[in-house]
Amino acid sequence: MRILVLGGTWFLGRAVAQAALERGWEVSAFNRGRSGVAPEGVTEIRGDRTVPADVADLAVHGPWDAVIDTSASELAPRDVLAGARSLEQAAGAYVFVSTVNAYRGWPDEPLTESSELLDGPADADIEYGRLPADWDGPDWYYGRQKAGAERAALTTFSADRVSILRPGVILGPGEYVGRLPWWLHRARSGGPMLAPGAPDKGVQPIDVRDLADFALEQAQAAGGGSYNVTAPMGHATMGGFLNACLEVTGSSGHLVWASDALLIDHGVKQWTELPLWRTNAGAWRVDSSRAQAAGLWCRPLADTVADTWQWLRTGGTPVEHPRWAEHGMSGVREAEILAKLVD
Ligand SMILES: NC(=O)c1ccc[n+]([C@@H]2O[C@H](COP(=O)([O-])OP(=O)(O)OC[C@H]3O[C@@H](n4cnc5c(N)ncnc54)[C@H](OP(=O)(O)O)[C@@H]3O)[C@@H](O)[C@H]2O)c1
Repeated sequence: MRILVLGGTWFLGRAVAQAALERGWEVSAFNRGRSGVAPEGVTEIRGDRTVPADVADLAVHGPWDAVIDTSASELAPRDVLAGARSLEQAAGAYVFVSTVNAYRGWPDEPLTESSELLDGPADADIEYGRLPADWDGPDWYYGRQKAGAERAALTTFSADRVSILRPGVILGPGEYVGRLPWWLHRARSGGPMLAPGAPDKGVQPIDVRDLADFALEQAQAAGGGSYNVTAPMGHATMGGFLNACLEVTGSSGHLVWASDALLIDHGVKQWTELPLWRTNAGAWRVDSSRAQAAGLWCRPLADTVADTWQWLRTGGTPVEHPRWAEHGMSGVREAEILAKLVD
């Protein structure tokens, strides 16, 4: 197989490139050369997806059996559309990595692939769906942009050549967002560790390497349609996840559970201040059985935790990223909340 990874240097795209090389595939990667480095053996193509001339030139480096699009997290649908149009004659299949945020019901409702998608036209620009700074309602900006980008892929490549992958939270070696790294560092520092919600609460992060493997399967199969790509419901719990963090870091710490109600009372920011903690009814109720039936395999979450700690210990710090700083709770604030629990 000969594939083009849009991205290829950073977290998911790098994992895709690495896994493809391990299969003996020929891999090209298109990026600006700003974030990370591609695995050795990848043919690098430099360019910016928002620059029409760079996108127009891309096809001359083909043909490819498939394109795997991992670099559209901050891209307008119209830039995805331009890229897809440029590649349509040069690539057999298009695997577009979207997100569960593209659903209108996320994170309040359980989701299947037939749940309603947000609006977002295929040719929308980057301002589409942008909310005013003082907006207090649901933030659908990212989801609308991604839903529009999905439409851009689907209006350009025929349905028998497109797969849309909608992951939830992605964890694993190379994670630059700072969710699992924050919990690992917190666990390592020991003491009573504030644990959010309930130990048996199900969680569904997907390991970046399992998602990468599934993307490659889709590149080969072509035309799979849409897939929610999360770990299955029942695969892991918050308690198992946090205990794995304590265990792999050799921590002397222990968990002190705080109810959702208490954390909400204290104004703890869901999703970021205590990463992965979210009380919305649909946050961890994404049905990914269609992907499992198509070959998605998910390793135990404890393995993801252990391998991410190993990566951090061996100097694995990604390019500085603003999202990293958005995650985690200060020690002072944690101590204040813990004090309420023992009062
Ligand atoms: N992280 C998560 O938990 C999560 C969850 C659900 C879905 N997703 C989706 O998964 C996909 C992968 O996410 P990610 O976090 O691994 O990576 P990402 O931040 O979306 O993409 C980074 C990669 O894209 C390249 N890139 C960015 N802008 C570019 C541009 N204008 N032109 C050319 N290349 C560009 C970067 O290289 P250069 O900077 O060098 O160009 C880098 O290789 C995204 O589509 C995201 O929406 C992520």
